[in-house]
Amino acid sequence: MSRKIDIFDTTLRDGEQTPGVSLNTYEKLEIAKQLERLSVDVIEAGFPIASHGDFKAVKTIAENIKGPAITGLARANFKDIDRAAEALKDAKRPRIHTFIASSPIHMKYKLKMTQEQVLEAAVEAVKRAKSYVEDVEFSAEDASRSEIEFLCRLFSAAINAGATVINVPDTVGYTTPEEFGNLIKTLLEKVPEMDKVKVSVHCHNDLGMAVANSLAAIKNGATQVECAINGLGERAGNAALEEIVMALNTRKDFYGYSTGIDTRHIYRTSKLVSTLTGIYVQPNKAIVGANAFAHESGIHQHGVLSEKSTYEIMTPESIGLSSNKLVLGKLSGRHAFSQRLKELGYELTEEELENAFLRFKDLADKKKEITDGDIEALVEEQVLKLPEIIKLEYYQTSSGNKAISTASVRLKIGEKSVEEAATGDGPIDATYKAIERACQMHCKLVDYSIKSVSGGKDAMGEVIVKIEKDGKIYTGRGLSTDIIESSALAYTNALNKTMLPNGKNNGHH
Ligand code: KIV
Ligand code: ZN
Repeated sequence: MSRKIDIFDTTLRDGEQTPGVSLNTYEKLEIAKQLERLSVDVIEAGFPIASHGDFKAVKTIAENIKGPAITGLARANFKDIDRAAEALKDAKRPRIHTFIASSPIHMKYKLKMTQEQVLEAAVEAVKRAKSYVEDVEFSAEDASRSEIEFLCRLFSAAINAGATVINVPDTVGYTTPEEFGNLIKTLLEKVPEMDKVKVSVHCHNDLGMAVANSLAAIKNGATQVECAINGLGERAGNAALEEIVMALNTRKDFYGYSTGIDTRHIYRTSKLVSTLTGIYVQPNKAIVGANAFAHESGIHQHGVLSEKSTYEIMTPESIGLSSNKLVLGKLSGRHAFSQRLKELGYELTEEELENAFLRFKDLADKKKEITDGDIEALVEEQVLKLPEIIKLEYYQTSSGNKAISTASVRLKIGEKSVEEAATGDGPIDATYKAIERACQMHCKLVDYSIKSVSGGKDAMGEVIVKIEKDGKIYTGRGLSTDIIESSALAYTNALNKTMLPNGKNNGHH
């Protein structure tokens, strides 16, 4: 019988530390719901002491998500731990995750603490967390660069103080698979108490080895892996959840371990996270990249057509990609549309379905063939729709390579209609200036990107913008067959988000 590895998802905590990523509470809850469908064992929902927004997100997720255990991060001090406990108080299965650095470099330069002081702080922190919840995780930050004798003492003390999970992070992505595998093996040999608890790893990808290091740790006795969807996370990111899970699944013969993950939700989860964070997945990314199941060369295509396993080690269906690439069009009815949605794994309410169908019909008037990618984009737009205070009612632009670009817009702001015009450096700049004038807001445009949702000249353009206001970053998304309209919609979407509570400070925790 294969042993089960717990999947601890940190997309909403370490993943949100990805530069330029900022999610509001509503978006975090949507991701948490999807992680629940994916059946992760633990959701790290945030770092409650870091900001009011983080606290609220952890609290909201703790109140609403009852499948996975919910955890919040806390440094090894009472203030952090008390705040995490408060945020988690309505969770069905709360876990407090407390950490302190254990490497000589971190202790000397960052903490300015001796080994004995770190040990004492760790024990006090675990005891404090234990006074609130049964399930307490202790992490030794920068464990992979720590002295082994001290690490053993620290873990032993944390377990004796009540820790139920011991996490071994490779905080700076420095280790290698062999070295890290040996570290886990040594810890298990030298700390007898480790037998009583879950042994977790948390690997960063600075040298591109986060997944390999995590798998080596599993091979040597780790029973929980911390990872993030699409490999998001601080700097080069964390180990990618989808890669760990599919490696364990596909190579069960070698690893002999399974997970509780419903892999058929992997693709949608990746898509949702990419849409909400505005971080695109590279096409050649393992498992979820657009090319992960595409066979380009004639020899490969021939092989796959006669026998899939010639070049395919896992099926697209196993991650929730459908092989049925049926294209819908103007004449497709509600039944075909809702059937397709079901096949793509969406469960919509009647109202959401009705709205999505209207958008589909609207799009079918402009675009001949509607692909799965189009449908996914439309539905996500519907399902993720936030309350709109600013609404784009109308816009008009004129531009040319020898002319000054001008734009006029009409916005509905609350109950009022406001019209404005502006000139700019190109039609999009002019539109953005007119929008800013109309709503009397000024923001810095930090990033703008455009991508076609599917192929063809009539493809929809998806625009993602990141704007900065009062030191916070907000991501907006707009979708249309007209790129000026998608640009305007993305901008108003981001402006609307500035009026919602939350948004991460443009800095690090
Ligand atoms: O990378 C790291 O060490 C962390 C810890 C807080 C677990 O993110
Ligand atoms: Zn980390």
